[in-house]
Amino acid sequence: MSEDPIAQFKENQRQGWKHFIPLEAMTTPAAARLVKHANVRAGQEVLDVACGTGVVAITASRLGARVRGLDLTPELLERARENARIAGAEIAFAEGDVEAMPFPDATFDVVLSQFGHMFAPRPDVALGEMLRVLKPGGTIAFSTWPPELLIGSSFRLVGSYMPPPPPGVSPPPQWGDVAVVRERLGAAVKDIVFDRGCMLVPALTLANYRDHIEHTAGPMLKLVEMLGASDPARLAQFRREYEALAAPYYADNIVRQDYLMTRAVRQ
Ligand SMILES: C[S@@+](CC[C@H](N)C(=O)[O-])C[C@H]1O[C@@H](n2cnc3c(N)ncnc32)[C@H](O)[C@@H]1O
Repeated sequence: MSEDPIAQFKENQRQGWKHFIPLEAMTTPAAARLVKHANVRAGQEVLDVACGTGVVAITASRLGARVRGLDLTPELLERARENARIAGAEIAFAEGDVEAMPFPDATFDVVLSQFGHMFAPRPDVALGEMLRVLKPGGTIAFSTWPPELLIGSSFRLVGSYMPPPPPGVSPPPQWGDVAVVRERLGAAVKDIVFDRGCMLVPALTLANYRDHIEHTAGPMLKLVEMLGASDPARLAQFRREYEALAAPYYADNIVRQDYLMTRAVRQ
């Protein structure tokens, strides 16, 4: 493995996210919201950044857009290709890093990312790349988890049990704070529009919810793997805290995960 801490961080991401496939059932409805928020139209060149199993890419393709998808994790790209085959969608999926994308400047009319680019370690580098490959006048749009709500707070809890990330790595939920998003987009864009979405996750109990997330979501999966091997008592404490954190968002066998959607036009 590389000795560069940022490269190691990305390798950990790649390992952590490879079990994400069951969560595509949750991100599929959100994909339709994001594609609508971005006003994707037939004939546009569209990029889905950190595309995972391709839910946003395939939704955009169904509208007649010409779509490409990019992700770090080969296991998810394999699933994305299978999903596209089943859907009858022609989409070029490629392995790659949002911080160094293999596309020329000004290639796309629309650049999308659903709960994706927020996991790149350096927001300025990831956003710089997303804007570089976007045509002037093109649309950038993304969905992200706000820091003050369930998923953002659970990242903070998970982080408090993990060794600190390498210097320069930014917490993903900062991308869910409208003030931070405005500042990061800055003068590179105009016409910023925010909206909110809600992901409703069925769960028989909070323990079932926690168990599902532990087996599918990268950061939590990594933590449980680490504590399970080194400190089972601390793992039990983490699980209690996690369920207590989720409790206010749980009613009628549903966990409510609210998120932020952003759209802007490149200057
Ligand atoms: C929460 S999943 C979201 C997947 C998909 N967009 C969806 O909505 O179902 C996060 C995704 O980000 C990808 N990812 C994380 N860091 C990345 C990076 N630096 N470059 C590209 N993809 C990345 C992971 O491989 C994973 O597929």
